[in-house]
Amino acid sequence: MKENLKEIYTQRTDSCDMANSVEFTALMNQYKCAIMEVETKLNVLDAEFSLNYDRNPFESIETRLKSPASIMEKLKRKGLEPTLENIEEHLFDVAGIRVVCAFQEDIYKLAELLTGQDDIRLLRTKDYIQNPKENGYRSLHLILEIPIFLADGKRYMKVEVQFRTIAMDFWASVDHRLRYKKEIDDEGEIQRKLKRCATIISQLDQEMQDIRNMIEKSNGKTE
Ligand code: GTP
Ligand code: MG
Repeated sequence: MKENLKEIYTQRTDSCDMANSVEFTALMNQYKCAIMEVETKLNVLDAEFSLNYDRNPFESIETRLKSPASIMEKLKRKGLEPTLENIEEHLFDVAGIRVVCAFQEDIYKLAELLTGQDDIRLLRTKDYIQNPKENGYRSLHLILEIPIFLADGKRYMKVEVQFRTIAMDFWASVDHRLRYKKEIDDEGEIQRKLKRCATIISQLDQEMQDIRNMIEKSNGKTE
């Protein structure tokens, strides 16, 4: 027992030390740079769309850097030692970007244009729009690697980009809030209702897309 406690204590101290180190701060800074790079690329695409097609594909863009506590918790959950190498190799969402679009087709268009750029490496695609999660969650997730240029050279950093429609984002924010409401007693009923909402939202996205296509067709605009 004593041994275990000692081990836990040492581990805790280690992880705190790691999160407080200059190297950790430098790594977080590199993730911040990677976020800025991807955000700029998305803004450039948005501006170009607006010029060419007279519309902006995204409604909003949010970025976030995972907190040190959340990084430590995830490493522990994955059974990994708290090291900088493990963060870089095994955590894909330290740098996160969420792009919310009005229309589903713009999600795929933006994702295609972004991943087609020759400095970007696409590591993984999780298409929860074509294959929604069991609970009804829908979004397109990409794990990218983007180079950042530092004083001592080029480094590739991982960034998670989530693309959603406004309706999908609405659903996900309600779902997220409910997950943290532990006092809910009839979970089954809530899950069923949420899933039904996800289906309705999916139909709504499709209908809105159809309407836009009809409007564009009548205006003689195509892509
Ligand atoms: P994490 O360990 O949470 O990062 O999950 P993962 O590595 O299995 O990846 P996944 O692509 O499934 O989920 C990544 C992120 O998508 C999460 O951190 C959430 O932001 C979002 N997400 C995934 N599933 C759900 C869901 O059911 N509801 C909500 N609200 N968000 C979700
Ligand atoms: Mg995550």
